[in-house]
Amino acid sequence: MNSRFKFSDSINLIKSIRTSGTITPSSKSLIKRLLGPIDFDSAKCIIELGPGNGCVTSALLKRMPSDCVLICFEVNNDFVAQLNSLNEPRLHVYNVCASSIREILDKHDIAEVDYVVSSLPLALIDDDVVANILASVKFNLREGGRFLQYQYSLKNYSDMKPMFSDVKLRFTLRNMPPAFVYDCVK
Ligand SMILES: C[S@@+](CC[C@H](N)C(=O)[O-])C[C@H]1O[C@@H](n2cnc3c(N)ncnc32)[C@H](O)[C@@H]1O
Repeated sequence: MNSRFKFSDSINLIKSIRTSGTITPSSKSLIKRLLGPIDFDSAKCIIELGPGNGCVTSALLKRMPSDCVLICFEVNNDFVAQLNSLNEPRLHVYNVCASSIREILDKHDIAEVDYVVSSLPLALIDDDVVANILASVKFNLREGGRFLQYQYSLKNYSDMKPMFSDVKLRFTLRNMPPAFVYDCVK
């Protein structure tokens, strides 16, 4: 699996537009910007929320050291099957909502994580679920850990801003559609 455009991935995204929030996987340029703040040399555990077809997942796996684990949360069964077919020992994929972070980390005996990378379409998710997800992200990040999220609107900026010690916002035109990229430090 790689970040090249695959027609079947777009079909799957379109079929599930209400939970995917897009019709095409993220561009290489957006993925580069999203993952830019990650220090791969020191990372031991990364969480990915909404991996979809795995375009961000593959970019993470390419750069992660052998002792770093990647735990993914994805609600779409087809994408979960696609990700599991990678047979990658550092990758753990769960077919559960992103709000279940603590319960899954307990299964792995992991107290806290270094990074949470998210492609979740927050603007389409119910406000109370978004509040749960963001609280869980913050709770499970280590001090100084980062929450990296992209979005096509600024709808949730006001939710994130007061929760983190620093929130940087960038914009990239080189994606369909253009996207805002949040870099939030706990
Ligand atoms: C915009 S797609 C992102 C796909 C891919 N990461 C990319 O950047 O192209 C969002 C993904 O989030 C998943 N998703 C939506 N709500 C979710 C939730 N509450 N928990 C976990 N995954 C969710 C969707 O099934 C979809 O695969």
